[in-house]
Amino acid sequence: MLRFLTAGESHGPGLVALLEGLPAGVPITEAVIREDLARRQAGYGRGGRMKIETDYAVLQTGVRHGHTMAGAPIAMLIENRDHTTGNGPDGKPWTHTMNNEPVEDEVTPIHRLRPGHADTAGINKYNTEDARDILERSSARESTSRVAAGAICRAFLREFGVEVHSHVLNIGGVQAARPEVIDWAATELSEVRCSDPIATEAMKQAIDDAREAGDSLGGVVEIVATGLPIGLGTHVQWDLKLSTKLMASVGSVNAVKGVEFGEGFELADLRGSLVHDVIKPLDEWEKNPDGSWVQPWPRRSNKAGGLEGGMTNGEPLIIRAVVKPIATIINPLPSVDLTTGDLEQAHYERSDITFVPTCGVIGEAMVMITLADAFLEKFGGDHIDETKRNYKAYMATLGPKHTSVKA
Ligand SMILES: Cc1cc2nc3c(=O)[nH]c(=O)nc-3n(C[C@H](O)[C@H](O)[C@H](O)COP(=O)(O)O)c2cc1C
Repeated sequence: MLRFLTAGESHGPGLVALLEGLPAGVPITEAVIREDLARRQAGYGRGGRMKIETDYAVLQTGVRHGHTMAGAPIAMLIENRDHTTGNGPDGKPWTHTMNNEPVEDEVTPIHRLRPGHADTAGINKYNTEDARDILERSSARESTSRVAAGAICRAFLREFGVEVHSHVLNIGGVQAARPEVIDWAATELSEVRCSDPIATEAMKQAIDDAREAGDSLGGVVEIVATGLPIGLGTHVQWDLKLSTKLMASVGSVNAVKGVEFGEGFELADLRGSLVHDVIKPLDEWEKNPDGSWVQPWPRRSNKAGGLEGGMTNGEPLIIRAVVKPIATIINPLPSVDLTTGDLEQAHYERSDITFVPTCGVIGEAMVMITLADAFLEKFGGDHIDETKRNYKAYMATLGPKHTSVKA
């Protein structure tokens, strides 16, 4: 079982990611983690913070000479450069505002609650008179730790030929065309991480217009995982279904308000005859040069998004998430003061116009952590070689049950 925790505040000294349960021998370097952290920081419409921080995860434990160490938990530390270089409220350095020791010169508390954030429920639940106690941890800065852990899981999944990508389908109502085959390299070059060049320009214009109007934008991202074997997850218990786990992990990304698989909500309008993914007969199955099946039980379509009955069916996993527009807007929404209840403008703290492109990268991380866990549940192994042996042995059992037609 893979266990994963994050710690850290938005303007504290740093963020922590803790990942335990990977087998020994998985190749990991800080440079590989840095690639995903850089992808998280890019994106048209992000705010000033992205220019201050160049995120770097320092591996503290669990990796030796470029490989995961026998059973050791992996801990990573990502410094918040803003903490040491920037000033917070009242022009005081963040080292003062976020000091873990009592300070003499008090910091002005945040009283103006921001609708759309954790502030209002949090100050009541945790009995604080300063919304900073809530917003520092609820901020999506935390997702940096997720992306670092996800990058490690990417390295593990690559050992089995699994690739995970994401792209943006919609920003502020500008809809991208979704090609059958997506050019992922070109998508990475789009400033909004969109595979449609015409929509990319229209999305950037929509972001500029929203900035001009002092407003913010949401959208839709799609995460795609290829190379998955049939049979990850299970149908036997509600909480063990891979579909349950993926909905929860992608749904946990800040500002995500809905998750769907494959054709998702659009299936509501179609008859069953047009919805289900017909299985190809054996004479249409393809073989690898070594005689193994390219994919056993292939389908004519993939409207289910690669999941049936809580398990992978061998088709690409397709997950879409809808992301709400940013709540902290340049022209703040009306709100109330937490001490008096009087009408006030919501607190404004440096904010993005949209973070939809980044949500795709964070969604990838959550999918990779969930898939790595499903792999280990199915194939186990204390060393990656053992996991691979189990994987290979399982793959050799797939195909028609009559032994004479096996791959
Ligand atoms: C990458 C990323 C960046 C975000 N940046 C901001 C931001 O700059 N300003 C803001 O108000 N919300 C931002 N959010 C959204 C809030 O974190 C989120 O809406 C808030 O914590 C409330 O949580 P909920 O929408 O999940 O209920 C960001 C979210 C993500 C994923």
